[in-house]
Amino acid sequence: MPENILIVSNWKMNLNLDNATKLLDNLKKIKLGSKSKVLNIVCPQFLLIPYISNLLSSTDIILGGQDCHFEDFGSFTGDSSIQLLKHYKCEYVILGHSERRSQYGETNLMIKKKCEIARKNKIKPIVCVGESIKLRKKGKHIDFIINQLDECIEKNLENIIVAYEPIWSIGSGLIPSYDEILEVKTKSMNFLKERKGIKNVKILYGGSVNSQNFNDIIQMSGVDGALIGSASINIKEITKIILNVDFN
Ligand code: PGA
Repeated sequence: MPENILIVSNWKMNLNLDNATKLLDNLKKIKLGSKSKVLNIVCPQFLLIPYISNLLSSTDIILGGQDCHFEDFGSFTGDSSIQLLKHYKCEYVILGHSERRSQYGETNLMIKKKCEIARKNKIKPIVCVGESIKLRKKGKHIDFIINQLDECIEKNLENIIVAYEPIWSIGSGLIPSYDEILEVKTKSMNFLKERKGIKNVKILYGGSVNSQNFNDIIQMSGVDGALIGSASINIKEITKIILNVDFN
């Protein structure tokens, strides 16, 4: 079992002030106690962050962003900077989500630069990788993922968090088999440790995670946690996931 289980809620462009408050009121009631090895990380859209940051002070819920720009500041209309994430006490930032890659043309090089600026500001990047259904069917998924890792992540880092999110699994209700997740986890881990010289690697799984499959994914695939989309904005689902984490 990993030393910590990361439960990363990717709220995407969902939730308004009212339903975000309601969700957090429920999350705050969860007493982690002996489950203190659970890191409960919520990633709201940018405009919610100042408000949520305030609601989270003196709770054990951790704040994260869904993206950042790779420059400190400048003429980047519509973007938001890592310095503001830091100001509002974000500790993590999701980078290179497949929705950003496909809808906003984010490249591996851009993601690498975003990682660098996040690390410089002491915010932990969660780098998303994952294949399309076409690549999976052709059996080319491992090569594709290793190339993403190679191009997005610098050498010789102390630590890195990677989220394996097969594109075909996001929001579809489909998940790879536990062995398939384990294969990606093991090969990514080996590549990052042996070829990139990274000491501490954590691998999360993301894509159609819910309260029914969460524990099996963690146990059978040995991942360090999950990046959760739709189930993370469903109060019953996310509460069940956090309360029922099985450490055996
Ligand atoms: P999902 O989304 O849990 O709704 O499949 C996961 C994600 O996009 O990070």
